[in-house]
Amino acid sequence: MDRYLIKGGKPLYGEVEISGAKNAAVAIIPAALLVDGVCRLENVPRISDVSLLLNILEQMGATIRRVNRSTIDIDCSQARQTGVPSELMRKIRASYYLIGAALGRFGHAEVSMPGGCDLGARPIDQHIKGFNALGAKVEVEAGMVYAKAPDGLTGNAVYLDVVSVGATMNIMMAAVLAKGKTTIENAAREPHIVDLANFLNSMGADVRGAGTNVIRVYGTGQLTGGAYSIIPDQIEAGTYMAAVAAVGGEVLVKNVIPKHLECITSKLQEMGVTVKDLGEAVLVKRDGPLHRTNIKTMPYPGFPTDMQPQIGIALCLAQGTSIITESIWDNRYRYLDELKKMGVTVQVDGKTAVIEGVTGLTGAPVSCCDLRAGAALVIAGLAAQGETIVEQIHYIERGYEDLVEKMQGLGADIDYLLAPVEPDHTSNLRAIS
Ligand code: EPU
Repeated sequence: MDRYLIKGGKPLYGEVEISGAKNAAVAIIPAALLVDGVCRLENVPRISDVSLLLNILEQMGATIRRVNRSTIDIDCSQARQTGVPSELMRKIRASYYLIGAALGRFGHAEVSMPGGCDLGARPIDQHIKGFNALGAKVEVEAGMVYAKAPDGLTGNAVYLDVVSVGATMNIMMAAVLAKGKTTIENAAREPHIVDLANFLNSMGADVRGAGTNVIRVYGTGQLTGGAYSIIPDQIEAGTYMAAVAAVGGEVLVKNVIPKHLECITSKLQEMGVTVKDLGEAVLVKRDGPLHRTNIKTMPYPGFPTDMQPQIGIALCLAQGTSIITESIWDNRYRYLDELKKMGVTVQVDGKTAVIEGVTGLTGAPVSCCDLRAGAALVIAGLAAQGETIVEQIHYIERGYEDLVEKMQGLGADIDYLLAPVEPDHTSNLRAIS
């Protein structure tokens, strides 16, 4: 049970390098199952969700080789659809991509209902609707999803009732090896959707229109190997930008695609933060007061729900009253309860949070309840006067590579507070017996 200890109140200065995108990596790694050959993936983030997925693929018979810090080779040519332990799959939301990938590759899939952060109801009905349209029979029983397409999958038109990142990518994966053409209408448009399509195309697939709300997939017989570099993480970059907004200072956020950050940049600019587009980096500076604003989370290119808690901290420190409307997840305001311990004044009513800006926060012991909430609590600790202890940091480690080291590089006073090692009585016993 490691924790972070933060001594807040120091502005952030320097440069930070952004890692590969978590939500692209957790789709592209399962999609490697569709490839009959070696996929070399570059810019892979070193986070626990990625390690879990690699572990799952290994248990399915894939060979994984780490080439260097951020490059791995995945060879799924000998992979099979075998029973990966359910407890492993339940640890991660993205295990649902194994349904689309295994259906596409083997014609059947057996996967535990996905786990991940508790953000409220997280149905997969739209994924199932897509698999059914392609000719698969899907049953959900005792926490397992069983999908079967004994006659193979055949392309079809799928209209998504809600804009879903997961359903869009899962249907894309099932469709690339299907017979004929699949059309996904009302598709999600996030940068990681485009990244998955580019990955699949670089392995020999024919996916068109990713990044718009109509995606067409023309089934191909086989995907062969190749090399692909994952895009930089939009949300990790946004988290450091929000940290500069809340804490103050000047930081060069490197290895980013500024276009992907526009939805975040424009809100920060409204709040009085300077953000300069430098091509493959953004320079973020805040030395004056923060202005209030309103935020409504929306599918891309709207303001991302995955940035709502981090920007929420900056709003807590802005002059005046700000209103947040969370329109994607039901349960994404729990971090605000923790923040009340640090002096934040906020009222939540359903999808709406009304935040009264305060002039400063006070350090306190707080506990993460999900990944982005965890990042928000770290930012709050860095902005607060005094000491903050952040507990349940395993949530943060699911999606942020080296958060502590990167923040330290910007001058933040943050470190691990390691749990004391329990004395190992068993080794004594072994020596005696
Ligand atoms: N939805 C349905 N039915 C479905 C699928 C989704 O009703 O079959 C609803 C959801 O309940 C939600 C909305 O549609 O209200 C959007 O859900 P989506 O499917 O887009 O979310 P997801 O694919 O489960 C991914 C990210 C989340 C991110 C959301 C929205 C991954 C592994 N997760 O989840 O990331 O919040 O898209 O952008 O890619 C995070 O990184 O912290 C995180 C939670």
